[in-house]
Amino acid sequence: MPKSRPPGRAAPPPGRRDDRSQRAPAPRAEARPGQGAKPAPRDAAPARRTPEADRGPARPAGASEPKRPVPRPLGPRRAAETIGVMLETEGWDAYQLLDSGEGAKLERYGALTVVRPEPQAMYPRRLPEAAWAAAGAAFTGDVEEEGPGRWRLADGIGDSWEMAVMGIPFACRLTSFRHVGVFPEQVAHWTYMADRLRALSATRTERPQLLNLFGYTGLASLIAASAGADVTHVDASKKSVAWGRENQALAGLDAAPIRWIVDDAVTFAEREVRRGRQYDGILLDPPRFGRGPDGEVWDLTEDLPHMLDLVRRILKPGPSFLVLTAYAIRASFLSIHELTADLLGDRPGTIRSGELVLRETGLPGQPGRRLSTSMFTRFEGEAP
Ligand SMILES: C[S@@+](CC[C@H](N)C(=O)[O-])C[C@H]1O[C@@H](n2cnc3c(N)ncnc32)[C@H](O)[C@@H]1O
Repeated sequence: MPKSRPPGRAAPPPGRRDDRSQRAPAPRAEARPGQGAKPAPRDAAPARRTPEADRGPARPAGASEPKRPVPRPLGPRRAAETIGVMLETEGWDAYQLLDSGEGAKLERYGALTVVRPEPQAMYPRRLPEAAWAAAGAAFTGDVEEEGPGRWRLADGIGDSWEMAVMGIPFACRLTSFRHVGVFPEQVAHWTYMADRLRALSATRTERPQLLNLFGYTGLASLIAASAGADVTHVDASKKSVAWGRENQALAGLDAAPIRWIVDDAVTFAEREVRRGRQYDGILLDPPRFGRGPDGEVWDLTEDLPHMLDLVRRILKPGPSFLVLTAYAIRASFLSIHELTADLLGDRPGTIRSGELVLRETGLPGQPGRRLSTSMFTRFEGEAP
């Protein structure tokens, strides 16, 4: 488990950091706004608990004190719960996952076919080698530099091009973090979000308010604005926000009500709590590690509870929604499922895949929570 990075320490090398974060400026040694010595306003999250003030529950040896306030109080659960849902995106006219396997994936983004690393793809490839070799760009990651230098390009291939998602044209670019400006699997969330926003608009006159935290190149913000929302887009990277504005112009949505904000997501959410602002929908797609514009450290495992505590304060009661994505997981049970299905799937039987979960003992009247420990695949053979 990676340790949190206090401000001032170097970011982990590209192979180790979450792969969806953009390069961020060097940290400054100052405290994050809202965490300093100033007294917290009444509606702010509770002040940080110190070991002197409240030693709290025993922590295992080596476990650090929480850097953020621990969210409290937790009410009894009323929401229905469904687990093990697979939200699947099949691709569309401009995007296809053509093949995967042997640690890589072959995808088509508009006119360009690209090869990128994919540790989940442990199984053999299905397309012939020639299909992979014909890709216009392949991420090599073999040099430490910004821009397309970490890609091997076929003759005549440029490092930026256009494609569209859900009717929104946007600019793709070969970035040094192996991404191209869109995460196609997010279409499952964006379709849901657009449906929710339209449903909200249909029931009232004022436009729904959507907050896109860690918003990257702004595609979700553009789709939300097209679906009738007033959008607040927050990202720490000036470059990403500039890319978002460029996409807004490309999509002909210059007049759409989008506030583009370069800020640390936690700092911004803390400010919204103090201002008493609330949203009908919140998208939260944090990287594993990231940096705010003033060097604020984002570490998903350390910071997500506090962030969700802020989010619950700025999410309107009633028919609002939150979409949280975490790419911190290094492997999915689908990887071992596909591998098992490739190797044993020709026999009669059943393959079941999922996660092995420990259940807490719980409290009187409240079932224990689930703790995921690992993923599994079961193959149960049958007599032919
Ligand atoms: C995983 S991407 C989000 C992708 C986006 N939701 C989409 O699918 O198009 C993560 C983004 O978080 C931003 N980021 C990293 N650390 C941040 C921080 N502390 N505050 C705000 N944004 C941050 C990065 O600049 C990057 O654009």
